[in-house]
Amino acid sequence: MKLWGGRFETEPAEIMEEFNASLSFDRRLYREDIAVSLAHAMMLGKTGIITADDAKAIIKGLKEVLTDMEKDKFVYSHGDEDIHTAVERGLGEKIGEVAGKLRTGRSRNDQAVTDLRLYVMTDIDQVTELVAELMAALTDRAETDGGAIMPGYTHLQKAQPITLGHHLMSYVFMLDRDAARFVSCRTRADILSLGSGALAGTTFPIDRDMVAKELGFTKISANSLDGVADRDFVLEYLAAAAITMTHLSRFAEELILWTSREFGFAKMSESFSTGSSIMPQKKNPDAAELVRGKAGRVTGDLMAMLTVMKGLPLAYNKDLQEDKEALFDAADTLKKCLRVMTGVVQTLTFDAVRMSKAADDDFITATDLADYLAVKGMPFSAAHTIVGNIVKICVRKNKRLTDVTMEEYKDFSPLFERDVLDVIRIKRSVERRVSAGGVSPDQLKSQIAAARGMIAERRNDKTPGT
Ligand code: ARG
Repeated sequence: MKLWGGRFETEPAEIMEEFNASLSFDRRLYREDIAVSLAHAMMLGKTGIITADDAKAIIKGLKEVLTDMEKDKFVYSHGDEDIHTAVERGLGEKIGEVAGKLRTGRSRNDQAVTDLRLYVMTDIDQVTELVAELMAALTDRAETDGGAIMPGYTHLQKAQPITLGHHLMSYVFMLDRDAARFVSCRTRADILSLGSGALAGTTFPIDRDMVAKELGFTKISANSLDGVADRDFVLEYLAAAAITMTHLSRFAEELILWTSREFGFAKMSESFSTGSSIMPQKKNPDAAELVRGKAGRVTGDLMAMLTVMKGLPLAYNKDLQEDKEALFDAADTLKKCLRVMTGVVQTLTFDAVRMSKAADDDFITATDLADYLAVKGMPFSAAHTIVGNIVKICVRKNKRLTDVTMEEYKDFSPLFERDVLDVIRIKRSVERRVSAGGVSPDQLKSQIAAARGMIAERRNDKTPGT
């Protein structure tokens, strides 16, 4: 069945039919599509645009189509161009000609985008829940294993000692901002487009507020061209997804490093690893590698959609049909990656001894040494130079900071006293970083407490009506 056959004399070429069809990917919108049609039919009946009996018949028929689809009993036909066409054909087969009245005062243009807005809103509720789960997994591990001291890096060179907990918690805060971006995007998806018609509104006395309320939208679009033409909510979703994936990818990259023999900070569970067909000894961190790889794919979805949108004249153009595959691909990928990363985090084994050995590097507390002199009154810049000299001589003599004797320290500066030997211990370095957001154990405790609150809030982020 075609929704537009009237003015045509011949059928489209087979390849055109296939090229034009979106059913293979917009089938997943059947729930949204039928919900939108139910709300529209109800409104048409209540406003008297169609008779109450017609509305009742349409609503009953739509519910039957929904049941068939839910039960996988609906038979899609070769000619169904998209989900909207399939539902209307199915309705016609159930209730006859009156089905055609459902199309009064609306177009596929406002219908398709309304379906997608509903889909995005529901999906965001799922994403924030999954982000909260990963945040919780990271926070749990920070609480149980977080005290382990490890090297903190800049330029992938050992920089200052930190704790595993501090490192894991950094991702919790990134993820919370990711969730916030989705929640914010949801407020802009939450605008009813239906009632915009094809582009210019409709001559029928429709009640858009009634439809909005029925579908759980809190706002209606104020301009019909905007209502059908823009997909900024899809772009925002994709941007939020790409940023989240970028965070996951950085973490994945770190896990790949940490689980290597060279680092040996952690072991990935066998349940999230795979082997090699030729090298019997291999246990590869594929879960993390796939997450890292899929970050590229989601960024690609964002780029694809930005490129689709950038030259489009108002209002609807068929290019907009491309919105769905990019969105669905990003949404499916992101949700899978969040689930996998949660599993990976929950099943990692950390090696606190390897981490602390790696942290106990020759010069990792050099900053503490410079701070020591600065506390005693020396300008930090001068302290930096002196400690730089100490490091230079140590490198020359193949010594570590902890090998430098008290007398040698005194030669560099009379400000050095016995307590300097304590200051350069890695444990002390960590304990003394008590500045807000620093790596001290107390600061970690407050981060964990804050995160528990954030996680609870994210789990409650569901907007009323969904
Ligand atoms: N399948 C189409 C889409 O996803 C529905 C809208 C079709 N509108 C039109 N004017 N041809 O965008």
